[in-house]
Amino acid sequence: MDAKEIISKLTLMEKAALLSGKNEWESRDIPRLDIQSITFSDGPHGLRRQEGAGDHLGLNASLPATCFPTAATVANSWDPSIGEEIGAALGEEAVAQNVDVLLGPGLNMKRSPLCGRNFEYFSEDPILAGKMAASYVRGIQSQHVYSCPKHFAVNSREYRRMAMNAVVDERTLREIYLTAFEIAVKEGGAKTIMSAYNEVNGKYANENEHLLVDILRNEWGFDGIVVTDWGASNDHVAGVKCQSNVEMPNPGLDSARELIKAATEGEGRITEAEIDKAILPIIEAAIYFKENDHTKGFDKEAHHAIAKKAAVNSAVLLKNDEDILPLAAGTKVCLRGPFVEKPRYQGSGSSQVNSTKVETIAEQIKNYDLTVVEKPQDAEVVLFFFGLDEIAESEGGDRMSIDIPEYQIKELESLTVFNKHIVGVMSAGSSVKMPWLDNLQGLLHGYLTGQAGASALLDIITGKEIPTGKLTESYPFAYADCSIYNYAGTEKRNLQYREGPFIGYRYYDTADVAVQFPFGFGLSYTTFEYSALTVSADGVKFTITNTGKRDGAEIAQLYVGKAESGLIRPKKELKGFKKVWIKAGQAADVEIPFDDKTFRYFSTVSNKWEIEGGEYQIYVGASVADIKLTGTITKEGTITELPYDINTLPSYKSGKVRNVHYEEFEKLYAKPLPEEKVGPLDINDAFCQMEDAKSGIGRLVYRILKKKLDQSYEKGIPDLNIMFIYNMPFRAMSKMTGGMVSREMTESIVTIFNGHFFRGLGGVIGGFFRNRRENKKYEERLRRN
Ligand code: BGC
Repeated sequence: MDAKEIISKLTLMEKAALLSGKNEWESRDIPRLDIQSITFSDGPHGLRRQEGAGDHLGLNASLPATCFPTAATVANSWDPSIGEEIGAALGEEAVAQNVDVLLGPGLNMKRSPLCGRNFEYFSEDPILAGKMAASYVRGIQSQHVYSCPKHFAVNSREYRRMAMNAVVDERTLREIYLTAFEIAVKEGGAKTIMSAYNEVNGKYANENEHLLVDILRNEWGFDGIVVTDWGASNDHVAGVKCQSNVEMPNPGLDSARELIKAATEGEGRITEAEIDKAILPIIEAAIYFKENDHTKGFDKEAHHAIAKKAAVNSAVLLKNDEDILPLAAGTKVCLRGPFVEKPRYQGSGSSQVNSTKVETIAEQIKNYDLTVVEKPQDAEVVLFFFGLDEIAESEGGDRMSIDIPEYQIKELESLTVFNKHIVGVMSAGSSVKMPWLDNLQGLLHGYLTGQAGASALLDIITGKEIPTGKLTESYPFAYADCSIYNYAGTEKRNLQYREGPFIGYRYYDTADVAVQFPFGFGLSYTTFEYSALTVSADGVKFTITNTGKRDGAEIAQLYVGKAESGLIRPKKELKGFKKVWIKAGQAADVEIPFDDKTFRYFSTVSNKWEIEGGEYQIYVGASVADIKLTGTITKEGTITELPYDINTLPSYKSGKVRNVHYEEFEKLYAKPLPEEKVGPLDINDAFCQMEDAKSGIGRLVYRILKKKLDQSYEKGIPDLNIMFIYNMPFRAMSKMTGGMVSREMTESIVTIFNGHFFRGLGGVIGGFFRNRRENKKYEERLRRN
């Protein structure tokens, strides 16, 4: 039977049930028609397949799997072939562990360095993030499983992530926040997409017609499954209407009942034909996955080797004064810092992998020709292994600052008393500020290396391998230097993206703000020279010569700008890149083609991608701040009408967007900005909003949560449950409790928090019995069919 025939045999109750999850990880099955559940599992840099009690926060044990470097790390390789290799290995492990849809990669834009999940995201640049994400998707899907890019879209903060409205102008939305997804869908062929928790311009991502229908389905031609983030469904009927296919994780049968009611009780909110349309990709997937052979297993050692290769190719050498690295054979080294014995190699939360094994520096150092001494004063070089603590990089919470913990800086400073030859080896999945940099003679940034990080880093330190990674995010001198500094921290629901397109280097480069390390920066043990640029209608060609003594790789970057423009524009924007391996003393001819994204901008006049006519500047560089070759090209325009007079948007014209006034942003936004909601709590408000709840019970719950949260920060170990609940809206109680709590009950609980204790309690008790009865009835009907 094909998918359409199966659908014709389903009852409405079965259809409605198929559109939400059965438990933490599976969609519903219909045994009488041989429709199997689809099994989802995290995650982006390694499988987190739970066999026992499931949770979406990485709390309960999962089966051992390879922990690859996280996305933020692998992005530094600028090498899609590595993404593809990791993807294929992830896909193989997914099949081996009976997983059909792998919930990754994550590709939200790194808007703020404080976002707690930056370690799971690729970059502050959409082209780079998109190309890397597409490579993972291709790799994963080559193994006959689906990849699920996430979180669609504009989910760039953890605080209040489930109760937040991202307010972003249409052009910035398209060019900055959606382009990476577009590439993952169109070039990667992603078959699943995860809708984000937040609202985008006043509509939850999962019921946002503009995102899910106009753009994802109609413009990009996506024909796969949209799955909600875990607990991200608000109004299930509205979601299905927008062709969101599976509500996860386990709302019981409450959501299914809502759907049936809307389809049958003359409300006219949804038709059965729309429900059929939403089921189609689920049935197609269930048929597709049936063929998979789950008995094969995977080669742990081979995957460990892939993790190591990725870590080697992604490490970034940031400082190397007097060529302190690589260390010569026999060098006397002293190992210091908190990560010698206990590496930090991944982040916390749903992406956390139970690794098949984890290397440590302490044990791996024995395999290298170095002499380890105890005291720093007896060493020729001190290797200091340091970085961000676990609490700083976790789903569910943002960082408080971009600092390295004080105790580590103190340790570093105390080492300088004994030895001036210190090489820092850093672990962190996001940018940090470096006022301590002068204390180091060398700095190798491994990011979060995955399980094979120790040998990968030691290979580079000893020169067995050469560093080839470059940064995929900017390193500001201070958080206050960021364009989003005045906007990203709001505690309110409406999170205005007032900086427009000027995030990361787009801001620093345009507004001339000095940074510690620019986007695209990375050193090598060899040197390169660029020459002979030619620009044609198809792209750029140039030559790179390895002028040093070692074979190595250079990451050449193509940026495009348009100095004379009637549009808001960053000075330069990345439009292509190539990593080229070149032998010492040899030269390589490099080509970077133009594509459909090189010159396009999104016009809010025509509501289409257009090209502005005129001269464009072409830059080829080793980083955004180190342009080696320049040229120009003239393009014919596709439209002359501009969306605004740029002189009326002075901050955006200059790129100096740190203090954009409300009115200027409103002008860019081109409609009235949303007001903050006032009045009593409703089911979409979050637990963290109960500080001033009417009822003492509400305020007490808030105080308990806050206290536990603070304790977890004090300890430095994330309490994921508390972090999740703190930011969770009340409605999630009915979406994540396997049918125990209905929406009606949740509404009554909120009534209690609003100070109407007895009315609320009555609703909770009545709702409890009604819900139990209805669930039973529904389940029986599903069994009987
Ligand atoms: C995360 C997703 C993850 C899901 C399932 C959510 O909390 O945001 O990235 O895939 O849980 O674990």
